[in-house]
Amino acid sequence: MRESDVKSYIAGMNDLSTIPILLAKIIRTCNDPNSGPQDIFNLITYDPALAERIMRIANSVFFGHSGEIKNLYQAIMFLGIERIKSLALGMTVLNALPTKGTTTATNLWVHSYEVAYVASSLAKYIPRLLTGDCFLCGLLHDVGRIVFFGMNPEKFRQLSASDGILEQERAAFGCEHMVSGMMLLDKIGMPHELIAPIRYHHTPLASPESPNLVAAVALAEALLGLRKSRPEEDGGWSNEHDALVKQLNLSENILEAAYDELIDSRSEIEGIFTSA
Ligand SMILES: [Fe+2]
Ligand SMILES: [Fe+2]
Repeated sequence: MRESDVKSYIAGMNDLSTIPILLAKIIRTCNDPNSGPQDIFNLITYDPALAERIMRIANSVFFGHSGEIKNLYQAIMFLGIERIKSLALGMTVLNALPTKGTTTATNLWVHSYEVAYVASSLAKYIPRLLTGDCFLCGLLHDVGRIVFFGMNPEKFRQLSASDGILEQERAAFGCEHMVSGMMLLDKIGMPHELIAPIRYHHTPLASPESPNLVAAVALAEALLGLRKSRPEEDGGWSNEHDALVKQLNLSENILEAAYDELIDSRSEIEGIFTSA
């Protein structure tokens, strides 16, 4: 397979053409100062899977309100519009991909959510970052791998994330998952400053824009890779990550803390993606 095959596969993904309608409405409503939680509630009730995940996330240990959030409206109030917008964007994109209900898709989702979690924890310590952007870019950082999986599940399963995944992807699909991810997000009209973290999460110093957002996602991925606790974790720690830590003046304690927040929530994260 070649990069041009990936391009035509993405061009032929008709499900994506339905995304912008709900997506555009949610983004417009979240950005509109005249609309409130009730308007967002009205839109989200059209998508029961999204509503269910929002409830689970609001009730996860990470936010310290396990079981206390009883309905969607409360969940929206509690999570805040910025995070709802990110979740809606991320889930609408991933729901359109032909991978629902399989172990591979669930594992990729869990990994993506973990990177989103750690990246948004890091947002507290890195200047000029919106938590919601970190969350969204973390959630979508490996969307290109889901594209490969959709194209050819057999070939995808033969790739080993632990060992030289990028070379293996080039050999099997003609390009790396950062490139297929970029093509997909470009097709749905994602702003380029939010595509940069997806394109450069394995080579953060090469990004021409959004350096801090790219750094948050790359560091989150590498922190997870460093622990090597799951086979689908595809990023290791490199000299580039050392350079980012130095540049951003992040201490070992900060990195540990961001990772520990995740560990506390892991079983709940799995629950979010194994149902619905
Ligand atoms: Fe990746
Ligand atoms: Fe990843």
